[in-house]
Amino acid sequence: MARDQLKKTASWAALKYVRSGTIVGVGTGSTTAHFIDALASIKHQIAGAVSSSESSSVRLKSYGIPVFDLNDVHLLPLYVDGADEINDQLQMIKGGGAALTREKIIAAVADCFVCVADTSKRVEKLGRAPLPIEVIPMARSYISRQLIRLGGWPKHRQNVITDNGNVILDVYHLDMSDPIQLEKAIKALTGVVTVGLFAERGADVALIGTTHGVSILQKIFLQNTQD
Ligand code: A5P
Repeated sequence: MARDQLKKTASWAALKYVRSGTIVGVGTGSTTAHFIDALASIKHQIAGAVSSSESSSVRLKSYGIPVFDLNDVHLLPLYVDGADEINDQLQMIKGGGAALTREKIIAAVADCFVCVADTSKRVEKLGRAPLPIEVIPMARSYISRQLIRLGGWPKHRQNVITDNGNVILDVYHLDMSDPIQLEKAIKALTGVVTVGLFAERGADVALIGTTHGVSILQKIFLQNTQD
């Protein structure tokens, strides 16, 4: 089955997580575009959406779905977005579409993050894809040097300015054996706006489109059995 069909199947499966009367958080990318199409089919049952990019906002509005400013939204039960990579702990690399900062903000607000992806995005260990980092333009060279110290090979993404007016470094060859620590270390560099590693706040559910249907991965919470 074509990859796009797998993205579509996963995205339509996310509809069952949408609660009627609520505002839905919507991400960015080709998989999320299918989710917006799916959302349009139930648009009269939702209050509207908040969006992580100008491109998703345009698509939502083209269906007549109201797009709210996140500052006016106090409850966000659900955020649906794609990923460049996702592991079994539901940690992700995101930002292939350069929308990582707004994606991370909406993910922070949402109660439940549902990641929709085709099976090619599922990995045992993160790091096959480069790690996108949004940086303040004047800090680009400084941050590149710091990333080299961390063992990475940063590459300036040419001709891309984010919705926030910043630039993207795509970093190859970083050691991702401890994604949470790496996320913290990169976040701490002055001039970094956002790192596209979603490890501290990963997804809560992943819907993975496969040729055999949609696989559902969920976070397993270990219970404390001590009395
Ligand atoms: C956007 O910045 C990204 O985080 C996307 O969610 C990610 O790149 C997935 O994109 P596709 O759904 O197009 O593969």
